[in-house]
Amino acid sequence: MSNLSSPETTPIDPAIEAALVASTDARAQALLDFAAIPSVSALPEHAGDMVKAAEWVADRLRGVGATDVAVEPTSLHPIVYGRIHEAPGAPTVLVYCHYDVQPVDPLELWETTPFEPFLRDGRFVGRGVADDKGQLVMHISALEAMRSVGRAPAVNLTFVFEGEEEYGSDSLYAWIEANRERLAADVAVISDTGFFEGNIPGITVGLRGIMYAQIDVVLSPVDLHSGMYGGTVANPANALAQIIAALKGPDGRIRVPGFYDDVVPLSDADRAAMAALPFEDEAYRAGIPVNALVGEAGWTTLERKAARPTLDINGMWSGFTGEGAKTIIPAHAHAKVSTRLVANQAPEKIYEQFAAYVAQVAPPGVTVTTTFIHGGEPSLTPTDHPATQAAARSLKAVYGVEPVYMREGGSIPVTAAFDHTLGLPVVLLGFTQPTCNAHAPNEWLELDNFERGTRVIVRLWDELAGLPRG
Ligand code: BES
Ligand code: ZN
Repeated sequence: MSNLSSPETTPIDPAIEAALVASTDARAQALLDFAAIPSVSALPEHAGDMVKAAEWVADRLRGVGATDVAVEPTSLHPIVYGRIHEAPGAPTVLVYCHYDVQPVDPLELWETTPFEPFLRDGRFVGRGVADDKGQLVMHISALEAMRSVGRAPAVNLTFVFEGEEEYGSDSLYAWIEANRERLAADVAVISDTGFFEGNIPGITVGLRGIMYAQIDVVLSPVDLHSGMYGGTVANPANALAQIIAALKGPDGRIRVPGFYDDVVPLSDADRAAMAALPFEDEAYRAGIPVNALVGEAGWTTLERKAARPTLDINGMWSGFTGEGAKTIIPAHAHAKVSTRLVANQAPEKIYEQFAAYVAQVAPPGVTVTTTFIHGGEPSLTPTDHPATQAAARSLKAVYGVEPVYMREGGSIPVTAAFDHTLGLPVVLLGFTQPTCNAHAPNEWLELDNFERGTRVIVRLWDELAGLPRG
């Protein structure tokens, strides 16, 4: 690890540090073992692997002396629960990570296979090493090191490790409602985010929500000869194109009536804070890489990336897509659409507006239906909350620099559920880098962030012990 003892950093408890050093290889191996389990929540054929991954997590929790450890069935994938309540009178922290991962296609772009993770040149590579298994292992490893020298965390910890985060967290909402008492806490810490561009330690204070839907356009039960019927019937692919084209204007504004009604305006202070972050459009563009950055007029790239809502087609299919030519009018056409939402847009309301607008702009001659697939609410957390400040001190101690506060464009639906349903302040403390290829081939996690992140977590439990209760 570079710089761990630079003058700006403050070492953690020497006994725990020694234990972490002694367990360096074992901790890395734990992540490699965990990431080798193909826990893809979206694919039914991996249902058994989901249980295997949940059991792996539960075993590790039992290994660090957690009580009430349970792999709780849901209507889809299990939730792993456990607690270490050994600090009477101290605050309780609800710790959340997810053990599911995204699908791995396209396979041919992976250096090796996605579920044969490896550690090379200071990086873990494999599906889930960053999002989110590495962070889950950091939490467990921090506790293992503490336990090995006879220490208990200075706060009470309640763990919720979810298996449907990458699939919309549907089962989680009802489970949280039904388990309020077991989830009673003073604050939630979610480790499923990352640092700012260039590996600058950061705390996420805003996440976008999501509304994911499908549009289906149907003409007839079967494809039709385009010579025999062309000119007399509607074409579902053309109709879908027309609908999609109506969703956004050339200025990048979303045309769904009412879509922006509930958007909390960015204050001048918000915009100034974002403008002060060390963000270069050109470096961001080149790092993706794409030819040009485009988006809604009137907003900076950073604002568009995290603080403005979006609407994107995620996929579309219809008719003949093979080589050569086949003369048909397709029987049907389909598109997957997502909108990323910002505070205070509500996914259900956005879906209603979206569905009504699609019906309104649908051309005649075809049957158009929309289906809601999943939704998650946006969230904003205060930078000045004592728990956020505790996390900032923990990062500063280990990295030697003040963290930045940033908004992220991605979604973690449980954040709003912890906030609204359980009434908890949430700290989003994660350790990945923006270029970590999350959801893409060759997902990676920097070993240095894995090591330091584990130490940040060790420190955080001490820092949070002084949190005002209630
Ligand atoms: N870890 C991400 C969320 C995230 C992305 C945080 C980028 C910070 C920066 C999370 O696992 C994720 O990908 N969530 C999904 C949620 C969706 C399926 C409801 C997302 O954002 O697409
Ligand atoms: Zn994630």
